[in-house]
Amino acid sequence: MEKRIVLLGSGELGKEFVIACKRLGQYVVAVDSYANAPAMQVADAYEVINMLDGLALDVVIAKHRPDIIVPEIEAIRTERFYHYEQQGIQVVPSAKAANFTMNRKAIRDLAAIDLNLKTAEYRYATSEASLRAAVAEVGMPCVVKPLMSSSGKGQSVIKSQNDISKSWQYAVEGSRGDLVEVIVEAFIDFDYEITLLTVTQQNGPTLFCAPIGHRQERGDYQESWQPMPMLEQQLREAEQMAAKVTEALGGAGLFGVEFFISKTAVYFSELSPRPHDTGMVTLAGTQNLNEFELHARAVLGLPINEIQLLKKGASAVILAAADSNSPRFEGIDAALSVPNSDIRLFGKPTSRPYRRMGVALVYGDLDKEIEYITSQAKRVAARVSVVG
Ligand SMILES: Nc1ncnc2c1ncn2[C@@H]1O[C@H](COP(=O)(O)OP(=O)(O)O)[C@@H](O)[C@H]1O
Ligand SMILES: [Mg+2]
Repeated sequence: MEKRIVLLGSGELGKEFVIACKRLGQYVVAVDSYANAPAMQVADAYEVINMLDGLALDVVIAKHRPDIIVPEIEAIRTERFYHYEQQGIQVVPSAKAANFTMNRKAIRDLAAIDLNLKTAEYRYATSEASLRAAVAEVGMPCVVKPLMSSSGKGQSVIKSQNDISKSWQYAVEGSRGDLVEVIVEAFIDFDYEITLLTVTQQNGPTLFCAPIGHRQERGDYQESWQPMPMLEQQLREAEQMAAKVTEALGGAGLFGVEFFISKTAVYFSELSPRPHDTGMVTLAGTQNLNEFELHARAVLGLPINEIQLLKKGASAVILAAADSNSPRFEGIDAALSVPNSDIRLFGKPTSRPYRRMGVALVYGDLDKEIEYITSQAKRVAARVSVVG
């Protein structure tokens, strides 16, 4: 049952997804805005286009006639997905899921208003003046995020009236697209945050992975670990919320559902309708199927009988320090001399400061301390440097 898959976005997450698909005998065309992107290196074919250009997307879809379209990023002309779905092409997980999550407003209103999930108090603003009014209603401190942005771009925390003006400017500069609107959220003083990988199936129940803890810095995750120890009751609450929101979005695939957890509450934050970067921890062999294998099976309609946590694990990112057109890695020998370690080097053709170039992975038995495993993953990552 070879299917033709067009993957939109060809980064490190796409690369692992392609590998999972190739192991299941599928044909994959990897698409991105630059040549030699990580997923293109392992795919059957590739296309270089601007994925925000609907016409360019149409040309690629008409040329490759895919059975399945798998988005890997948000910055795509996702409105076209409804049209592709009408043509009988499977859009992953669904055209609705891709469209609702490419703009923070649609998914937040769906979760908070339609589904009545607990979220941070929030308002929207389209100008500095309306931001000022929104801040007055939500209270300080609060977090400002462009509706269309990812990886923390344009995000800032407002602590006093004096911050409002520069926060608006920063959001304008970090916005994707020309229409600028922001969401203003009450700052949640959470104890920790998690990603709950949730798998919806064509013919089977919704399944959950063990919760993944992570630490964010500059808008990107630095380390993630699985499982995040948490109260059983709060985990059940998060699972129920994840089941509701993924059901409302429809389709089959793996979602990364993000929550903030405090002593007294579980807050829905946002979700990715596809593998999540913090979920790369599953590449450490923590589960019977990693997040990319789960996504591939769900998308192809193949059965997933259960998701088992086999080991504890942690991931730590390997970042570049400088701009380069020929980045190389040093220190891999020393890194892999750490017990129970592994590494993924993405093969990105260029580097810039803080660009994620690889990830260090460490696993351990279920009776090991998760803090220890995480510190070992950081040690592995620290031994690798990106030069050139
Ligand atoms: N309301 C909030 N209160 C506290 N921290 C927040 C809030 N919103 C976001 N953050 C922090 O910022 C990170 C990135 O925010 P998020 O909404 O997930 O945006 P992105 O789409 O860039 O991942 C979160 O993982 C969390 O650490
Ligand atoms: Mg996030």
